[in-house]
Amino acid sequence: MNSGVKTISIGMLGCGVVGSQVARLLQDDQQELSERSGAHLVLSKVGVRKAGARPGVDASLITTDLASIVNDPAINIVIEVMGGIEPARTLILEAIKNKKSVITANKALLATHGHELFNAADAAKVDLYYEAAVAGAIPIIRSMRESLAGDQITRVMGIVNGTTNYILTKMHEEGRAFADVLKEAQALGYAESDPTADIEGYDAAAKAALLASLAFHSTVTIDEVYTEGISNISSEDVAAAKSMNSVIKLLAIAELTVKDEISVRVHPVILPQSHPLATVRNAFNAVYVESESAGQLMFYGRGAGGAPTASAILGDLVAVTRHAAYATVGYGESDYADLDIAPIGAVKSQFFVRLHVADKSGVLAAIASTFSSENVSIQTVRQAGLGKDAELIVVTHAASEDALDACVESLRKLEIVRNVESVIRVEGAPA
Ligand code: HSE
Repeated sequence: MNSGVKTISIGMLGCGVVGSQVARLLQDDQQELSERSGAHLVLSKVGVRKAGARPGVDASLITTDLASIVNDPAINIVIEVMGGIEPARTLILEAIKNKKSVITANKALLATHGHELFNAADAAKVDLYYEAAVAGAIPIIRSMRESLAGDQITRVMGIVNGTTNYILTKMHEEGRAFADVLKEAQALGYAESDPTADIEGYDAAAKAALLASLAFHSTVTIDEVYTEGISNISSEDVAAAKSMNSVIKLLAIAELTVKDEISVRVHPVILPQSHPLATVRNAFNAVYVESESAGQLMFYGRGAGGAPTASAILGDLVAVTRHAAYATVGYGESDYADLDIAPIGAVKSQFFVRLHVADKSGVLAAIASTFSSENVSIQTVRQAGLGKDAELIVVTHAASEDALDACVESLRKLEIVRNVESVIRVEGAPA
């Protein structure tokens, strides 16, 4: 690298699992990263909320004065890895106002206040990059935003939460119950001590909002994502899916409807074993993209963890540094299409309905007639004995959520129906 190159100073907000890996790699790979960026990269300040040493980080860089980082005229780029909405939002806005490009891994913040932040970055002509916010190391943001910029994406389906994928994989492969695997995942450090955000689908919903916004050039926020988690998935559901040569996965789905609206949702699905996403095991993530010209693409890798997430941040850092060094900016967010969100009731899918019924004549006819009265067409029915009762597994052809809900309500009123045990959407199967 010649001696005339600029020095780019980096300030980091947060220094936890991800931040400490970013700091380590910036130090270990400084020469290579600088060569690739076209500028000398220097980590000059690390802001933390609680004072104290951080392993591998020079103590002289650490400060608890977070505002001093975003207001320091000597700092060119801010990396935000502290998480949470505030003070991250205010600090990022301040950094942008001060003409600093920002790299963030903060999915919850972008899925809530992305519009405000991206507009601010656009107005200040700086970059706001966030590859690490969705699916960790997987380069899905840049692929969708840049590589697929010339195509029309029609659908994105992702396994974007490692904790839930780990739990569902163990339930499927080892026949274990949800609560038992959750405990193990917590002991192994995959699941948080409060696992709500993962198991109830909120973490995936933030990522779904970001993927939908990007895919369809519209602003989608987390509160517009229909969200169901996996805490109601039972061993019986998993065994039933297995017997259908399928698996249960928690998917984030963003797709264009026939009315050119966006359906964006997170919920468990039954997926045939032959679908590429069905092969994604344990804590791995994958995003499956369908587009008009490219067809189907799948991106697979580690969705969490210090080093994998740091890899995505450093990729952004090299890109943003090149822009800063040459006084330009990269692709910004685009929301020109401004598509509406489809109401969940109108979204059509196939459904799996597992119910316990009395085992006597006329039962199947009554069940079939209930589905037919709501215009929901049955694809297959399977019956297994349960002593005096029977278990029925009905898979429907594509039907709207509203129609299926009406069906389930009617089924519950039938005297011969002991219980509707579960209703799970079916994806990726021939309809
Ligand atoms: N908790 C997430 C997961 C990682 O289990 O995948 C951070 O989004």
